[in-house]
Amino acid sequence: MQQQVFNTLTELEMRDAQERQQGLPGSQRIQALHPDSAKFLYITALGSKAKNIIEVGAGRGYSTIWLALAAQAGGGHVTTCELDPARAEEAQLYLNKAGLTDYVTILVGDARETLRAQQNPVDLLFIDANKDQYETCFDVVYKRLGVGSVIVADNATSHADELLDYIMYVQNHPHLESATILIGRGLEVSVKTSV
Ligand SMILES: C[S@@+](CC[C@H](N)C(=O)[O-])C[C@H]1O[C@@H](n2cnc3c(N)ncnc32)[C@H](O)[C@@H]1O
Repeated sequence: MQQQVFNTLTELEMRDAQERQQGLPGSQRIQALHPDSAKFLYITALGSKAKNIIEVGAGRGYSTIWLALAAQAGGGHVTTCELDPARAEEAQLYLNKAGLTDYVTILVGDARETLRAQQNPVDLLFIDANKDQYETCFDVVYKRLGVGSVIVADNATSHADELLDYIMYVQNHPHLESATILIGRGLEVSVKTSV
């Protein structure tokens, strides 16, 4: 990993840890993906050779940087969605710092709207947004997911109650295989097995 990428990830991890230690409410924290989950997501994107990667919930760009690294390695591209323009701007700054802007397009606005206009196939979908919106975000992208594509959703154990409907939905879906992975704050990982 290049030094500037490592430094930027470390800066974001330290900021996240400090803000959690200070007991700041979620709305005032960067709420970065757990580093173990981030590494898992990166390995999943690399291993599945994902070219077109969609992220819902860029925040300040921590997970986006990991996805962008996978895109850089595999000749892919990340489209990330962020509702809050100020956070999107910060994510852009951190991507600049990491030197990975060429691999990322940031869509500012509600992903349930910004993603509707897109048609191209998706290889990997990562959802880390408002917990009551996972199902809708999944549905908006579903028709673009090919067989073998991967869907990763964060907070499957830390927010198990809020994500229960989503988890039941993907685990009982006729065209998906899905499992809850006990890493970080829990990841629900699904693979599309048929159309
Ligand atoms: C937990 S944070 C994401 C953290 C980020 N993945 C990281 O690792 O740094 C959730 C983010 O999702 C954004 N968000 C929530 N609902 C959204 C939606 N419908 N469309 C786009 N962004 C959304 C929030 O503004 C917030 O910045």
